[in-house]
Amino acid sequence: MENVGKLIAELQEMQDNGYLSDALLRAAVRKLKESDSRYDWVGVYLLNHEAGELWLHNYVGAGTEHAKIPVGTGVCGTAVSEGQNQRIDDVSTVENYLSCDPDVKSEMVVLIRNASQIFGQIDVDSKQKAAFSEEDEFEVKMIADKLAEQIAIERA
Ligand code: SME
Repeated sequence: MENVGKLIAELQEMQDNGYLSDALLRAAVRKLKESDSRYDWVGVYLLNHEAGELWLHNYVGAGTEHAKIPVGTGVCGTAVSEGQNQRIDDVSTVENYLSCDPDVKSEMVVLIRNASQIFGQIDVDSKQKAAFSEEDEFEVKMIADKLAEQIAIERA
């Protein structure tokens, strides 16, 4: 990813200027999509606790039929039920995978969370196999942590 530090600084500036999480979530998705040519689809899902579902907040890329995903289903829902980020080198190996685009080969899901609560996740799809490294996960987690910070402030 190109310059994660710059992206974090831009989100920090938005926060300092009083922007709410809605704007930060949209900016993060747009900037992440632009930051790396391997990132073919980037979106944020927010967790709706009552429904037990992830609800698509915003995305850049092709439209998806998976606007709502039950916790425990697919790569996205598994990240929540296991409380773990997911890096899938080959999505065809995932039994309950939810396909949005037949050209997608790999996927990374990074949770937006603080110590006690999962707020949602950043989902990234790539048309390349094994597109996502540990470093990608680390960098996207830095962004997810920034978003979690603002969501936690608003929900306190
Ligand atoms: N592939 C995901 C569903 C979301 S789409 O990638 C946009 C999954 O298996 O949960």
